[in-house]
Amino acid sequence: MRIKTDRTVIEVLSSDDAELMLKYHIENKDHLAPWEPTRSEDYFTIENFSAMLSDNHKSYRDKTALKFAALTPDRTEVIAVCNFTNIVFGAFQACNLGYSIARNHQGRGLMSEVLGATIAYVFDELNLHRIMANYIPNNARSSAILDRLGFEREGLAKSYLQIAGKWQDHVLTSKINPKHQAPNK
Ligand SMILES: CC(C)(COP(=O)(O)OP(=O)(O)OC[C@H]1O[C@@H](n2cnc3c(N)ncnc32)[C@H](O)[C@@H]1OP(=O)(O)O)[C@@H](O)C(=O)NCCC(=O)NCCS
Repeated sequence: MRIKTDRTVIEVLSSDDAELMLKYHIENKDHLAPWEPTRSEDYFTIENFSAMLSDNHKSYRDKTALKFAALTPDRTEVIAVCNFTNIVFGAFQACNLGYSIARNHQGRGLMSEVLGATIAYVFDELNLHRIMANYIPNNARSSAILDRLGFEREGLAKSYLQIAGKWQDHVLTSKINPKHQAPNK
């Protein structure tokens, strides 16, 4: 599957693209470290990214997670990633969202462009009802983008995720699908 936006192409990468994904994570190690779990050195290996990208394809087929990469239109560089995980159907029809953009592409509206397109896909194609996105209170850029995309603040969860080696509080937000269709019985 492929989603095109004005400045990117968005795909669920396969293990053939492990090199591209590894490069993104190595080049942005310091930029992402304050907002992600602590990574061991084994994380930054081609074997690890190959295995993770194969798992991503399986999750995509099973509809349990959609882990997207946004690339430059010539497919030479990963610009950003966004992961719709913990997809649950039944009475909940919801998932979690996490995202990041390369430092050298930050501040140009590209993350908004990518999230706008992928959220529309998740709402329209999977017919999910709710997307939940949570951020550390001092992550001003994350707070701003969620506001712009129409996520609403629902509360503050104490000691919610272990990020950068510490259990950290998170602001909880959600966006509800305005066009959600009741599933056929
Ligand atoms: C959070 C993060 C994804 C936000 O990325 P971003 O590039 O700031 O987000 P946007 O795409 O919405 O860009 C907004 C900026 O682009 C500018 N912009 C330019 N053209 C724009 C357009 N067409 N549309 C929207 N914004 C545009 C805005 O004015 C804004 O600039 P500012 O930062 O000077 O205020 C990024 O900071 C990041 O990856 N951080 C590290 C990882 C992280 O924190 N992940 C989230 C964990 S909860």
